[in-house]
Amino acid sequence: MRIKERVGEVVDAFATPLRASHYVELVNPLWSSHRLQARVEDVWDETPDARTLTLRPGRGWRRHRAGQHIRVGVPIDGRRFTRTYSISSSPERRDGCITITVKVLEGGRMSGHLVRDLRPGTHLPIGLPQGDFLVPEAVPVRPLLVTAGSGITPVMSMLRTWALVGNMPDVAHLHYAPTRHDVIFGAELERLAAEHRRYDLHTVLTRSDGGSHFCREQLDALCPDWQEREVWVCGPQGLIEAVEDHHRDAPGARPVHVERFRASLAEIDADARGGTATFLSGGTEVEADADATTPLLRVAEDAGLNPAHGCRMGICHTCDVPLATGSVRDLRTGDLIDEPGRAVQICTAAAAGDCTIDLQETS
Ligand code: FES
Repeated sequence: MRIKERVGEVVDAFATPLRASHYVELVNPLWSSHRLQARVEDVWDETPDARTLTLRPGRGWRRHRAGQHIRVGVPIDGRRFTRTYSISSSPERRDGCITITVKVLEGGRMSGHLVRDLRPGTHLPIGLPQGDFLVPEAVPVRPLLVTAGSGITPVMSMLRTWALVGNMPDVAHLHYAPTRHDVIFGAELERLAAEHRRYDLHTVLTRSDGGSHFCREQLDALCPDWQEREVWVCGPQGLIEAVEDHHRDAPGARPVHVERFRASLAEIDADARGGTATFLSGGTEVEADADATTPLLRVAEDAGLNPAHGCRMGICHTCDVPLATGSVRDLRTGDLIDEPGRAVQICTAAAAGDCTIDLQETS
């Protein structure tokens, strides 16, 4: 029997009403069984604004598949924020660690903290691997990878896996970045391309190659056999839409697999108005000015509340709470929601006039 299990058993005898796991967590957070945590083993600056964190997940971790992501919680100023990050390491990695690679977003509270302030030795709550941006278990014959910026992260896990297991397929890869200094994993990608003749890498520098972005002519030039290839695309919304639009209209195009980092948003009228959002939370009311395009989750957080949330892009439904009064707008569709009691995904809904949101016990 391992030492952490013995500690758990002994403590169980005295651990009422707390569970043994709460005490075990004091000895080593990675032994906790009531919440999954990871210790930051190392931090590595990939580019001036992107950093790789090496994490050692604790008890309860389940091996990921290349392309999946995890939720990571970070306490900042006494509040806990959660974001989702793709795992950039291969599941074949042998040391029990995983990596996530975080790029600072403009105005990004959490990404800024992870890239600039986080130190090795910190423990972070994490979630189990999720997501279906996966390549089949049987290595695809001719994948076409299209990535930009930090969209390289889940694809890096795929490339590392194929390289580690010695089964690099016939890969065509178009990667976009503003300049050479912005290419996350730039040296490793070039090394992979040099070592694996079947890995055909094209790095397109959008600021130094004349503002070049994904288009039919470019695809024909860089990957003339694209019609024979199944596509995996990850990056900003503009890139994803360009690839989807191209393949939707192209005769004979193969399927496109997409990983988004943000919800795809509808056009909202420039004169759409927000209002005062009132959040009911733990018997109190908190009011905040809310414009017509800022998600109510962000408005609540800026007002000092801490609503439950996960993906922040309308997928996981962790943030669903009922509308009490008034109306809100679903930012993905532009639709108004004004029925009291209707569930609102506050990560993708903004005020459409005054509204009251019942955060219930989520704060
Ligand atoms: S946080 Fe996932 S749906 Fe809102």
